[in-house]
Amino acid sequence: MTLNLKHPLALVPTMGALHAGHSSLINIAAQRCTEVVVSIFVNPLQFENPDDLAKYPRQIEKDIELAKQAGATNVWIPSLEEIYPNEPEIISAGKIGNTFEGVHRFGHFDGVLTVVNRLFNLVKPEVAIFGEKDFQQLFLIKKLVKDSNLPIEIIAAPTIRETDGLAMSSRNIRLTEAERIAAGIISKALTSAAKESSLELQRDVLLSLLASEKQFALDYAEIIDEKSYEIADSSSVNTRAIVAGWINGVRLLDNMVMRTQVHKMGAR
Ligand code: PAJ
Repeated sequence: MTLNLKHPLALVPTMGALHAGHSSLINIAAQRCTEVVVSIFVNPLQFENPDDLAKYPRQIEKDIELAKQAGATNVWIPSLEEIYPNEPEIISAGKIGNTFEGVHRFGHFDGVLTVVNRLFNLVKPEVAIFGEKDFQQLFLIKKLVKDSNLPIEIIAAPTIRETDGLAMSSRNIRLTEAERIAAGIISKALTSAAKESSLELQRDVLLSLLASEKQFALDYAEIIDEKSYEIADSSSVNTRAIVAGWINGVRLLDNMVMRTQVHKMGAR
């Protein structure tokens, strides 16, 4: 990249079709650093479905405007050759990369880690911001930074939602109005589950509410231990419900912190 960048520098990696969720990440970056690079690159390596890649929304002019308004000092739109001048060496996301999202999207997280690592190498940020919306992605990027000893601080940004609670996503524009309303069940189920005091009740509430919306085809709904990204059990301290599924061919993802379990011997 031929930009003359100042430091400290924050990087906000995106695939474009920016919305208020992305803006919130850019805002956080601008509060932390003088230089804020927003990258826009639709990474073919992380799309296992060519149709999803082809249909991925592209709106470059609007994106540049939105990124600048949110506080970007540079909007970087690299070409495929800039990111992958040669056959890339694929970074494996390991065991956790093959669970949950990884079961349904084989090789997806290897593609994410490969591009994120490449972006880090090219931009050399001190800080990089990622959304909690993609919680498994965030977990794996934090792990990559830790395992590879990269001198980059990863900041997790909270999920930005529509007024009815639906997590903002670039894919939401592919939903009709009726589907958009039906999609509201995901955040409703998560919010209701979060109020329950045991893992069992949280799971029951989550699954029964999700099943009540016939337009929603569930892929998985689980409660994980945030430390290991494995299914939570009674020893888990910080837990989070994760949900993924489809409405009429549009993949929807969400997650929410669950209330700490209240044990028979007293609350932790
Ligand atoms: P993309 O889906 O464009 O998302 C870019 C960043 O915005 C990610 O860190 C994502 O978690 C965050 N984000 C998306 N929706 C959000 C919301 N409603 N609230 C808060 N943050 C939100 O995630 C990717 O691109 C790619 O996998 C990428 C990391 C760029 C690698 O190609």
